[in-house]
Amino acid sequence: MKVLLVGSGGREHAIVWKLKQSPKIDKIYCAPGNAGISKDAECVPIGAMEIDKLVEFAKNEGIDFTIIGMDDPLVAGVVDAFEKENLRVFGPRKNAAIIEGSKAFSKDLMKKYGIPTAKYEVFEEYHKAKEYVLSQEMPIVIKADGLALGKGVLICQSHEEAVAALDEIMVDKKFGASGSKVVVEEFLTGPEVSVLSFCDGKTVVPMVSAQDHKRAYDNDEGLNTGGMGTFSPSRIYTPEINEECMKTIFMPTVEAMAKEGREFKGVLYFGLMLTKDGMKVIEYNARFGDPETQVILPRLKTDLLEIMEACVDGTLDKMNIEWYDNAAVCVVLASGGYPVSYEKGFEITGLESVEDRSDIVVFHAGTALKDGKFVTNGGRVLGVTGIGKDLDEAIKIAYEGVEKIDFEKKHFRHDIGIKIYK
Ligand code: AMP
Ligand code: GLY
Repeated sequence: MKVLLVGSGGREHAIVWKLKQSPKIDKIYCAPGNAGISKDAECVPIGAMEIDKLVEFAKNEGIDFTIIGMDDPLVAGVVDAFEKENLRVFGPRKNAAIIEGSKAFSKDLMKKYGIPTAKYEVFEEYHKAKEYVLSQEMPIVIKADGLALGKGVLICQSHEEAVAALDEIMVDKKFGASGSKVVVEEFLTGPEVSVLSFCDGKTVVPMVSAQDHKRAYDNDEGLNTGGMGTFSPSRIYTPEINEECMKTIFMPTVEAMAKEGREFKGVLYFGLMLTKDGMKVIEYNARFGDPETQVILPRLKTDLLEIMEACVDGTLDKMNIEWYDNAAVCVVLASGGYPVSYEKGFEITGLESVEDRSDIVVFHAGTALKDGKFVTNGGRVLGVTGIGKDLDEAIKIAYEGVEKIDFEKKHFRHDIGIKIYK
């Protein structure tokens, strides 16, 4: 089979790495991919949002199966465009990707179907939003409705901060059209866990759990980033909690989407918080998480393509999905200054020293090739994943990899995997 993957980050590199192990696949293409991915797949210079060109490419190349890694094209309807041409494609249609694309939609869905989440109100008018937040106790959470590169969530400690957040989102339009609506939400506390799941519209199969570290510096200090590292399994997510989530969150969500005529096929990502009142949904994503995928897929035993085909065909209930009884830890190597400003173009050394190790995998996020050598080309440069029998061993192995790889201004956190409560 010929497979096309759409996306360009560490997540897509991890998907390609796993797909390469499938005996059913003859060739993998990635659009647009990145320098690291180009060593494992044929990269084609088509952007993830160039939907017509992607469809054209899939038709001309005789692609048998396409996988959408990123959120923007899903929310824009890339799956519908492929299906219109009778092309097989993995991911939710536009009417289901809205579960990530609109926070107001996802909150209303949860309210309607009794799925546990933070209390909230939705506003389209600035003055009403302002009046409301001024009447509330602090802290409070203000979210731009649409996709905002993971940055549209503002936790406000005072009324002044809350009004400033509304100004940014609704008046200054810092997140563009995403900010024409806001969700104002109750502030919850507790440890967060990511549980990604495979869905075929009616059956939902949770993957192994993961936790990520969003802040730039050790001990969760510094600014929020796209993710500085992640580990799997979570230390707090027990089989009992999984069973409870299956009953109160996972199945109800998939059933709710089906009832609404928005059958969800693909990866449904549940961002959960274990509050004093039990597990609650913080967010949904309509795709694999980045960097969670870099620790989840190395633990998957079953052929990923077979699972994805079962999701598209509606036969997930017939699949036996198996995982290794181990742990994985991914440490992100970033460019100093990320997430604010950073330089690019520094040569990366030491990659070859971990190539032969089966317990270390390096996923590329922001690299480029210059004169045949890898150089830094983004804020998050690489994800170094260590695989071990348990988290402690996986942490040790991941940091062995981290020490061997170097580039100017290399920045990473030293405490990935040891977070327990946050
Ligand atoms: P989201 O993009 O909705 O996942 O939000 C990003 C992050 O903001 C989450 O991972 C949480 O750490 C935090 N957050 C979102 N909603 C809430 C809430 N209601 N209470 C506390 N923290 C929240
Ligand atoms: N790691 C969070 C996300 O992929 O949205």
